[in-house]
Amino acid sequence: MSGAGEKQVVRLTVNGEDHELLVRPHATVLELLREDLRLTGTKHGCELGECGACTVLVDGQAQLSCLLLPGQVDGACLTTIEGLADGPVLHPLQRAFAALGGLQCGYCTPGMLLAAKALLDTNPTPSRQQIKEALAGNLCRCTGYAAIVDAVEAAALGAVEAAAQDAVEAAALGAVEAAARTPR
Ligand code: FES
Ligand code: FES
Repeated sequence: MSGAGEKQVVRLTVNGEDHELLVRPHATVLELLREDLRLTGTKHGCELGECGACTVLVDGQAQLSCLLLPGQVDGACLTTIEGLADGPVLHPLQRAFAALGGLQCGYCTPGMLLAAKALLDTNPTPSRQQIKEALAGNLCRCTGYAAIVDAVEAAALGAVEAAAQDAVEAAALGAVEAAARTPR
């Protein structure tokens, strides 16, 4: 039986890297990320589950890391803001936020971006209302929200355009291959 102060081993994957950590069982995942892994992009806000600043993805779901204990993410795959870009290439949501003024001080931005990513991963063409609902748990003191919703809409539109372009190319390729097979 382990005592209250005893540390526990937790294995998890963060931004594609595997970790085995000895952690205080009552530390939060927010603390684990910021203090053990030095991933300080995930922000401390209220620590009460009310502001969304600490949002990360746990197995693809947006979760509040200030409310999670290490044992709850044992074996899970986490994505933090540090894992959103593809190397030097920003994620479309990051580009849209930057282009459309979806951030000012930036404190809420990591949580907003990850909540928005969780939405677009499950619903690539959300309505404006669905975007507002998905981000309702993420508070922003600066932007007035409209620019954030605009940015998520724009990123979604970009994804739709890219998918449409892929479909056109696939259809064109199919037509070329069919033409090549047709006896003349
Ligand atoms: S810090 Fe987690 S919800 Fe505010
Ligand atoms: S940009 Fe400052 S809190 Fe949202």
